[in-house]
Amino acid sequence: MFNEKNSTDINGPNHVAIIMDGNGRYAKSLGLPRVKGHEQGMETVRRIVVAANQLNIKYLTLYAFSTENWSRPQSEVSFLMKLPGIFMNKFLPELMRENVKVETIGEFDELPLHTKKAVSYAVNKTKNNTGLTLIFALNYGGRNEIVRAVKNIAKDVERGTIESSNITDETFSTYLYTKDYPDPELLIRTSGEYRISNFLLWQISYSELYFTDTYWPELSVEEFNSIIESYCKRDRRFGGLKEERHDEN
Ligand code: IPE
Ligand code: IPE
Ligand code: MG
Repeated sequence: MFNEKNSTDINGPNHVAIIMDGNGRYAKSLGLPRVKGHEQGMETVRRIVVAANQLNIKYLTLYAFSTENWSRPQSEVSFLMKLPGIFMNKFLPELMRENVKVETIGEFDELPLHTKKAVSYAVNKTKNNTGLTLIFALNYGGRNEIVRAVKNIAKDVERGTIESSNITDETFSTYLYTKDYPDPELLIRTSGEYRISNFLLWQISYSELYFTDTYWPELSVEEFNSIIESYCKRDRRFGGLKEERHDEN
């Protein structure tokens, strides 16, 4: 949610969101099948989680599967649905050591049962951890999230639990998957694409955007740290003026 707390932050970001893109092209560049890129991408998730924890970032939201990704070949979709299970199997002990709390956003119910089971297990196992909250956007679409919020608001208006005249930005935010998280201060997209691809449409209204040509499987901790450093140098104005200019005129 955009609020005073966000606008006064001068240190590192609290919440970083990442569109992890370029797995397929990375694999292709090595003459490997696309799924190898997704596999390698998991290793990047692991190192960026550790790096984010070290930088004291509190929330890391990773776009893992969009509502549009169902249109990919069935074999790739089915591999992508196995990835959460593979990831948790391999890295859950490390996530526990890192004190990471796993959560998800998106249409969870529509995922295959084995995916839901693997993810729920990790969510449950890590629920009392107090370090970084690692949020996987799984079967997530920004428009879908907004339409879902509108439907639920309409229901609550019909029931009389809220009045339409009282609906504010804040009310709306509480109907989103992200209701428990602050808005991301920084959105990163890898692989040289300059688009949002239906990610966090509401939440990024004032996020700083950073695009890098690096494919997700090749994103290093050094580059991630330098992205965070460059964020820290940005001048976030939220429609206002820079502090020192308040006295002018
Ligand atoms: C991102 O990599 C991972 C997902 C969308 C699941 P891609 O699979 O989109 O890789 P490119 O963009 O084709 O290289
Ligand atoms: C966005 O990447 C979705 C994820 C990273 C999960 P895509 O590769 O699906 O996006 P487009 O097709 O390039 O817009
Ligand atoms: Mg892509």
